[in-house]
Amino acid sequence: MIPQAFIQTLLSRVDIVDVVGRYVPLKKAGANFQACCPFHQEKSPSFTVSPTKQFYHCFGCGAHGSAIGFLMEYSGVGYVEAIRMLADQAGLQVPQADREQSVRPRNEPGLAELMQAVTRWYRQQLKQSSRAIAYLKQRGLTGEIAARFGLGYAPDNWQGLAQVVKDYESPALAEVGLVIVNDNGRRYDRFRDRIMFPIHSTRGDVIGFGGRILDRGEPKYLNSPETVLFQKGQELYGLFQARQAIRSAGRVLVVEGYMDVVALAQHGIDWAVATLGTATTPAHVKKLLRQTSDVVFCFDGDAAGQRAAWRALEQSLPVLDDTSRLTFLFLPEQHDPDSYVREFGRDAFVSLVEAQGLPLSAYLFRHLTERHDLQTEEGRSAFLKELQPLLVQVQAPTLALLLRKRAAELTGLEAGELAGLWKLPAPGKPGLPVAARGKRPAPASVNHKLLRLILFRPDLAGQLRKEWITGPDADGSALVRLLEILAASPNLNGAVLAEACQQLPEAQLLAARAAESLIWDESFDVVAEFELAAGQARNAWRQSRLAVLARKSLSELSDEEREELRGLH
Ligand code: UTP
Ligand code: MN
Repeated sequence: MIPQAFIQTLLSRVDIVDVVGRYVPLKKAGANFQACCPFHQEKSPSFTVSPTKQFYHCFGCGAHGSAIGFLMEYSGVGYVEAIRMLADQAGLQVPQADREQSVRPRNEPGLAELMQAVTRWYRQQLKQSSRAIAYLKQRGLTGEIAARFGLGYAPDNWQGLAQVVKDYESPALAEVGLVIVNDNGRRYDRFRDRIMFPIHSTRGDVIGFGGRILDRGEPKYLNSPETVLFQKGQELYGLFQARQAIRSAGRVLVVEGYMDVVALAQHGIDWAVATLGTATTPAHVKKLLRQTSDVVFCFDGDAAGQRAAWRALEQSLPVLDDTSRLTFLFLPEQHDPDSYVREFGRDAFVSLVEAQGLPLSAYLFRHLTERHDLQTEEGRSAFLKELQPLLVQVQAPTLALLLRKRAAELTGLEAGELAGLWKLPAPGKPGLPVAARGKRPAPASVNHKLLRLILFRPDLAGQLRKEWITGPDADGSALVRLLEILAASPNLNGAVLAEACQQLPEAQLLAARAAESLIWDESFDVVAEFELAAGQARNAWRQSRLAVLARKSLSELSDEEREELRGLH
């Protein structure tokens, strides 16, 4: 593991503009640099690199990070490898350090290599099993597709993996979920006599497996457990293989099963991915919307499919933007994508998407109007009651407005009445610019302002006191944490601070606040803004302390409290 001190030195030696500039053609734009974002497709540049703050930020897809983060995301390397690359560029030698100072267990190169070796071995085993080959053939797959997805076979052997790794006792095998250790300490392979579907990260590393039983039996699919490498709520099966195809098709199809993805690819629909036996999460949708704004969810026509679809809709609402186009497709009952495409072929499947796919808005209203009778006041009222918590999650300003408008129409209310009912700013009223809602919510709170000011000018932190920060809100708690960090290391350099922020639980909020300062130009008086906001914070705190102390009579006050009271006046 690499010592933190070295990482700090490294970060203060490299310039993120050089690092990013090696891969992306940057153009100067005011104080910053800009380019078309390398992490999503766009025609006009919203990817910005700040030389003073030493971070990059994309206003389109939200990608954000330090020089280390950029290398990880762009080159698909792990944290340690990114540091090695940076050190090479800066002509520094990475010191070897003791094991305790663990930096980040994720993506340890040893584990990735282990997974790779095991994947290779499963593939060899498939070549040697006529039974496994016959199974895949019978499911309509060719050798070429099996190879594209790296399909393999785990033989019927309790310790088959002993043939791959020198030391079957190695904790790494259990850590990646390939070996199970029972209560007696006995170790055995998790996957036995199963067709193996390797699950890749978007970088192409194998991070887990799904294993299908060849005959009938339970469970039909066995999956890797959650490990340091593998979080089901984050990953999508087939995304690595589908990346290029998604870009050229301009859309992505989300299905439920491993076999669906592989069978669709076999029939030329190579832009499909699957969730991993879990419900769709916002992280999944976010990941997909980074690839394309056109996402088609495909569900089986049965009741389970309906439930899964509604879940997917709920999870998607908060991550939509005004350009997202989500579609919901329900297959005829008795079919899943695999059986449908095998029976009717590629063109029929694509036509089905086009003819039967329901836009998210249509699905949302169809689902709710089926549940409530809009002919009666009671039905309309219950309909709105169920709709409201869904609509408040929509951050995309135009979409949110249109959905509310539709809700008003369906219930015979005026848009303004509905807004009043939901205590929403009425559309079109002055002072509430619709376009600014969502991305730039109108007036920032004092904590919000202070947070972005301190991120911009960490040296001002010394003038703020923690107790002035009243909350509880997300900005307030992130600000308090930032003040603590800066109190401990007052001279933290911009790059180190940017990287440190990425490691905090509040990383996302901090990224958003740091990015807000990218649009400030020279006319923005940072110090004056800071003094104003700090004064407001101090004042609010002062008033609340005065109120507390005023509740006591003078004789009740302790010496300290009298002293404080004097200071407050
Ligand atoms: P399905 O039961 O719909 O299977 O599970 P399928 O995809 O049609 O598989 P085939 O065609 O019979 O081979 C859909 C997904 O749910 C998860 C898997 O991710 C599977 O691909 N699943 C299902 C499990 O994790 N475990 C199970 O036992 C069953
Ligand atoms: Mn199936």
